[in-house]
Amino acid sequence: MDSLQNILDRHPGAGRDALIPILQSVQEAHGYLSREAITRIGGHLGLPASKVFGVATFYNQFRFQPLGKFHIQVCRGTACHVKGSLGTLESIQRMLDLKPGCTSKDGLFSLETVACLGACGLAPVVCVNGEFHAGITPDNLKKLVDGFRKQEAAHEGAH
Ligand code: FES
Repeated sequence: MDSLQNILDRHPGAGRDALIPILQSVQEAHGYLSREAITRIGGHLGLPASKVFGVATFYNQFRFQPLGKFHIQVCRGTACHVKGSLGTLESIQRMLDLKPGCTSKDGLFSLETVACLGACGLAPVVCVNGEFHAGITPDNLKKLVDGFRKQEAAHEGAH
């Protein structure tokens, strides 16, 4: 994993215009922007942490919590929207009591909305840890989530 220091070292003497590229690199390497990362990025660019945080929250591509064990991406592209992805998103939010960009307290699930996943023929699509699930309805969504919970319980039981 690319350390925060390595990323900052690639932007010596950088100013404000490097902020977004740095935030993107850090999120790509670590999956999210930690409080510590935000403070250190601010220190590197001569910006207060509050400013860095303010800019990052403006863009909904950034996350401030680590990814869950099961990272769920709900496609909100046009084809998926037409096939009811909003309903899928609402069910999943209710089911997991989770908002996009957040991670459940037990660290099991994280939720994200994304633009077209490039599999429109399978709409509505949900991608979990990189694996595509086609034609998702609230019903098979519940089965999917229950399956992940069982998988986790079996894994816990094995330890
Ligand atoms: S719109 Fe969802 S995969 Fe293209």
